Amino acid sequence: MRAKLVVGNWKMYGSLAANLTLLTGIKDAAIAFKCAAAVCVPFPYLAQARSALAGTSVAWGAQNVSEHAQGAFTGEVSAGMLVDFGCRYVLVGHSERRALYGEDDRTVAAKFQQAQLAGLTPILCLGETLAERESGVTADVVTRQLGAVIDASGVAALSRAVLAYEPVWAIGTGKTASPQQAQEVHALIRARVGQSDAAVASELRILYGGSVKPGNARELFAMPDIDGGLIGGASLVAEDFRAICAAA
Ligand code: PGA
Repeated sequence: MRAKLVVGNWKMYGSLAANLTLLTGIKDAAIAFKCAAAVCVPFPYLAQARSALAGTSVAWGAQNVSEHAQGAFTGEVSAGMLVDFGCRYVLVGHSERRALYGEDDRTVAAKFQQAQLAGLTPILCLGETLAERESGVTADVVTRQLGAVIDASGVAALSRAVLAYEPVWAIGTGKTASPQQAQEVHALIRARVGQSDAAVASELRILYGGSVKPGNARELFAMPDIDGGLIGGASLVAEDFRAICAAA
């Protein structure tokens, strides 16, 4: 049985004061969580997340990491630095990074590799745009994105990673994929991994992301290949994040 995981992606939102309220709300509820939970916060707030969440069941992580171990890369943050702040997870290949910051499959694969070398669990995001879905290439897109990571790190590396299927057209739009639409892609991703390694595929956690809310979480998480969620907007409201964890 794969235990459910709910991860908040705060994106570029927050302030010390607002985070304190949010983290306190999450921490107070954590004792009742029956799923694993984590928050991926902006870099400057990692220390704050650590001091609020240390000793609770809620883990923390970052939203991006350098593809290099160290060096003259002004403005970048290495995986080792994230480990210094107690991170367990890091998002790699979020669609906003791919679309707005030009991260291609090779860069994402290198980030995935750096994260694992440092001992972090990468959460690899995969997903198609609306145009790609409408032209019927969803399976090709997610297979290509996943394939780049498998080529670089090997399929066994997925046993130390989490996947997140996030259809780009459902992110922040209020348009969730239906549980059936999401399940179809999750099953396809698991089957692709299974072609290389059945044991890795059956243990692999595949989260769904894209407008998950307290009102739709339960039916999404009830699908056989959906192992939890990557939550953007709703993770900024403690009560919503709690409700989504309860659904998981
Ligand atoms: P959303 O974002 O829940 O606001 O759609 C999800 C994500 O981008 O990870």
